[in-house]
Amino acid sequence: MYFTSDNASGVPAPVLDALARANEGFAPSYGADPLMDEVRAHIRRLFEAPEAAVYLVATGTAANALALATHCPPWAAVYCTPIAHIEEDECGAPEFYTGGAKLVHVPGADGKMDAEALATRLAGAASVGVHNVQKGMVSLTNLTEAGTRYSPAEIAALSAVARAHGLPVHLDGARFANALVAEGCTPAEMTWRAGVDVLSLGGTKNGLMGVEAVVIFDPTRAWEFELRRKRGGHLFSKHRFLSAQMAAWLKDDLWRDLARHANAAAERLEAGLAAVPGTGLLYPRGGNMLFATLPRAAHARARAAGAQYYPWPHDQPEDGPDDGEISVRLVASWCTQPQDVDGFLAALQGQHAPV
Ligand SMILES: Cc1ncc(COP(=O)(O)O)c(C=O)c1O
Repeated sequence: MYFTSDNASGVPAPVLDALARANEGFAPSYGADPLMDEVRAHIRRLFEAPEAAVYLVATGTAANALALATHCPPWAAVYCTPIAHIEEDECGAPEFYTGGAKLVHVPGADGKMDAEALATRLAGAASVGVHNVQKGMVSLTNLTEAGTRYSPAEIAALSAVARAHGLPVHLDGARFANALVAEGCTPAEMTWRAGVDVLSLGGTKNGLMGVEAVVIFDPTRAWEFELRRKRGGHLFSKHRFLSAQMAAWLKDDLWRDLARHANAAAERLEAGLAAVPGTGLLYPRGGNMLFATLPRAAHARARAAGAQYYPWPHDQPEDGPDDGEISVRLVASWCTQPQDVDGFLAALQGQHAPV
């Protein structure tokens, strides 16, 4: 009953096997390994983007911060939602790697940026010459940090506003696979065809040991990205172990199967919660992540049964009045089992888990 995060999960066997195979003998270092050629070719094919530049790093924060730095000058603004991971959870890495770009909030409902609010914000950012921060780029997240999902049409609407101001668009895809399989569209439809210029393609939350790809659809930015990655200390010398993970994840569509599994587990959770009196969802579920309100008494029972999840926001006390409620985040992963979900639902209601 482990729902704290999808990155609390382990690594599927095909990825571990691929690491063991990659361990044999010698291979060129720093990304010149043949497995990286395979990964690059595979991602270009998948995204129908034969010119795209593809790079691997080990964390989502590095992917986001380096992607932003490559597309936004230090004196400009990155427009994002107030709950964006780049705003709340990266310890200033975007500001650090861009050399000081300012994160500017654009509101919207359910964790999504609102296109009209973006248009208003950009229209209001009239230049007073050298004195104000310039307009830099737009950063979106899919799945969002609220567990909701943008459709390609919604991304395209936001990109059109950005484009009207000459701004590039970044997509934080830490849970891109979950969004993609839920939406049932192609990778191209969710990215460059919808106006996305650079994607952080998350692998770690969806089964990898620690690899994210940065996919840059405008290859003229590629060399700058390479220099920034090296200078930032994120170019791995034994790069083949990053490539091997990503190659195994892509092979035979494993990445989509893992994401479908996680989404299905979250769907089961959602359906089960609907039958638990006093619970509610804070946002519509977009993929593998739910934000729910639980009666305090049910929360106490689930905790006593050993269920793991985070109160959300974090600063809510674990203990509160018995007749109150608590809001929590529940994340399913590629290896969440139906009995984990059923056991949690039973515990909330003070029942024994079904066998
Ligand atoms: C939306 C989002 N972006 C990026 C990341 C990647 O962060 P990390 O640097 O922890 O891999 C996360 C992980 O929590 C995330 O939820």
